Amino acid sequence: MGDAVSYKDLGLANSREMFAKAMVGGYAIPAYNFNNLEQLQAIIVACAETKSPVIIQVSKGARDYANQTMLRFMAMGAVQMAREMGSDIPICLHLDHGDSFDLCKSCVDSGFSSVMIDGSHLPYEENVALTKQVVEYAHAHDVTVEGELGVLAGIEDEVQAEQSTYTKPEEVEDFVGKTGVDSLAISIGTSHGAYKFKLGPGEEVPPLRFDILAEVEKRIQGFPIVLHGASSVVQSYVQLINQYGGKMEGAVGVPEEQLRRAAASAVCKINIDSDGRLAVTAKVREFLANNPGEFDPRKYLGAARKELVDLIKHKNQTVLGSANRA
Ligand code: G3H
Ligand code: 13P
Ligand code: ZN
Repeated sequence: MGDAVSYKDLGLANSREMFAKAMVGGYAIPAYNFNNLEQLQAIIVACAETKSPVIIQVSKGARDYANQTMLRFMAMGAVQMAREMGSDIPICLHLDHGDSFDLCKSCVDSGFSSVMIDGSHLPYEENVALTKQVVEYAHAHDVTVEGELGVLAGIEDEVQAEQSTYTKPEEVEDFVGKTGVDSLAISIGTSHGAYKFKLGPGEEVPPLRFDILAEVEKRIQGFPIVLHGASSVVQSYVQLINQYGGKMEGAVGVPEEQLRRAAASAVCKINIDSDGRLAVTAKVREFLANNPGEFDPRKYLGAARKELVDLIKHKNQTVLGSANRA
């Protein structure tokens, strides 16, 4: 690519101050994934209206889908749009699940204000070395870095993990000290996607491993923790999807009260992608089923976008506690 672009020139913020305030305030910053215009519009409208700081994040797959230059200009547009709404909320553009130094470097150079290097599937020392390399480059550009210890079950972008490996609390201090990361994603029982737990008849979702979280917090006091795989898999959306021709049996996620408990702790960033996907799919299916003659994408995507705004406002206000913190 051509000349490097700094996120500071785009009006974006890194995550450092956001996390410092969230730690003190006992809430979490929402990190919403986006791939397209309607998702980003909904995130910005909902966060501007609830006065919430926000992390807009892009996976490697999303970046391949949408084109990195397009995404950067969309992020610039997002900053401007929030300002025009009279709401100067801090917006952080974050790479979700970066899997190589080159990808992280490319994001730093193209205007991202934060990157995740996910070496969680690597042997410990390799994870340390890769993460440290990314931190050195990113910090030279005042870009913040998220690392990960422990592997979530499910699908992590293109990295498949059949089974979860909980974070080992005895590793966190060494990892944070050696790498210099700004935040740490941990594995305490969540997983990516819409099928987080396999429940038998009458069974309830098992609690997250708050004991591991507490042990981690004790060892790295005041250090920002990140929770991936934090969608609740809103059942009203699953029902709408199934009602209007979809097939998503047994989809289940993390109950909201467990996320509230996490947000009140050292968990400063909560990642949500699947709930947004469900909201969009439910509303598009419903709209098209009820309006079979309609073929203007603005109509059905508009219905989806409206639902997404309501969902994100609800998350900010009653789950993460990030509303009115900007
Ligand atoms: O962690 C995974 C995120 O939900 C992104 O998913 O790789 O399908 O874009 P994706
Ligand atoms: P969900 O699939 O639970 O939304 O998790 C998203 C995520 O962790 C993105 O990194
Ligand atoms: Zn994730």
